Amino acid sequence: MQSHNMRASPFLAACRREPVSHTPVWIMRQAGRYLPEYRKIRAEVDFLTLTKTPDLAAEVTIQPIRRFGMDAAILFSDIMTPVEGMGVSIEFAPGPVVKDPIRSLQQVEALVVPDPEESVPFVLETVGILSDELPESAPLIGFAGAPFTLFCYLVQGRGTKTFAEAKGFLFAEPEASRLLLDKLADTMIAYLAAQAASGAKALMLFDSWAGLLSPEAYETFAFPSVKRVMDALGSADVPLIYFPNQGATLLETARGSGADVIGVDWRIPLSKAREVLGPDVAVQGNLDPSALFASRDELGRQIDRVLAEAGPTPGHIFNLGHGIERTTDPDSVAFLVDRVHETSSRELWDATCGDVASGV
Ligand code: CP3
Repeated sequence: MQSHNMRASPFLAACRREPVSHTPVWIMRQAGRYLPEYRKIRAEVDFLTLTKTPDLAAEVTIQPIRRFGMDAAILFSDIMTPVEGMGVSIEFAPGPVVKDPIRSLQQVEALVVPDPEESVPFVLETVGILSDELPESAPLIGFAGAPFTLFCYLVQGRGTKTFAEAKGFLFAEPEASRLLLDKLADTMIAYLAAQAASGAKALMLFDSWAGLLSPEAYETFAFPSVKRVMDALGSADVPLIYFPNQGATLLETARGSGADVIGVDWRIPLSKAREVLGPDVAVQGNLDPSALFASRDELGRQIDRVLAEAGPTPGHIFNLGHGIERTTDPDSVAFLVDRVHETSSRELWDATCGDVASGV
């Protein structure tokens, strides 16, 4: 059953570092405001309602697959969705805003680890619809925020560039911080396991703010909570993806997370990332989302460069290095998906990437 799936899905095969007929591609934030069909639905309902209405959430998840033919779909939801059930009130404006930011041990102690069947039944229902409706060629990726990234929003209260208060809390209140990270990890374990049980074919952990930490603070606080999640999900029997954003200096540690795939942002070439990560993990990434604003010639060159840097060794999933910008032209995304498929198909690999790789 599973091997049948993997043959039908280059994405699942690449997660397992098996050879593929073409490099699979999907795009972080592929469902969203750059798509007119998404904006049409958003004109009728707000973001929270959209994430909580299974038919609509499933529809916007499928929109990019229908238009572009990506090799994977990602559940339409938000990293803060499962956090509300812990006892926190969250709004979107447009990023997450926490009503009472966590600033004390007492507040951490009051948080609960909810049962996802009770706290987010709508997410599990969305996953169920999608696992019925998506083609085998585009399996569903379930996801959650990594504990440290969720910690950043919960303590800071909203998105900022530096998350100074959140980082300050980490150093001022290490015990309360550890307890909060553990509770977040346990909540995400139950949440991700429930997504897999409902039909998600792979699971991804977004550590969007990991790069704010020194390698030492990362090892002390963020990494153990990631490992806790990955260890617990090993038995879920689906590929696990971990994305430590801005994590070029954290890769050596991250490779021990237990993830099958490590997401890499654009700040380091995939060739170097693979050197550090070694042969036992696949990589996902890493085109700069800004490249989608280049001319077709330049965009094509950038795409071929990323493929060449990933090299011919199996285990590369093409993606952007972070989420797509909302002002991106959808036609550039169509070009990207086709170009990745064409350049990486076996016949063309040597002619195109071989040359780029050898510096011709
Ligand atoms: O297509 C997909 O990738 C799936 C859906 C998805 C969303 N958010 C939808 C969304 C995923 C996987 C996320 C994860 C997420 N959310 C992360 C981790 C990934 C990353 O970008 O680092 C983070 C940090 C968040 C928190 C968050 N949610 C922010 C910062 C914002 C504002 C973004 C912006 O560009 O304004 C959101 C809201 C959000 N999440 C939107 C979407 C499509 C915009 C909502 C709208 O339609 O107004």
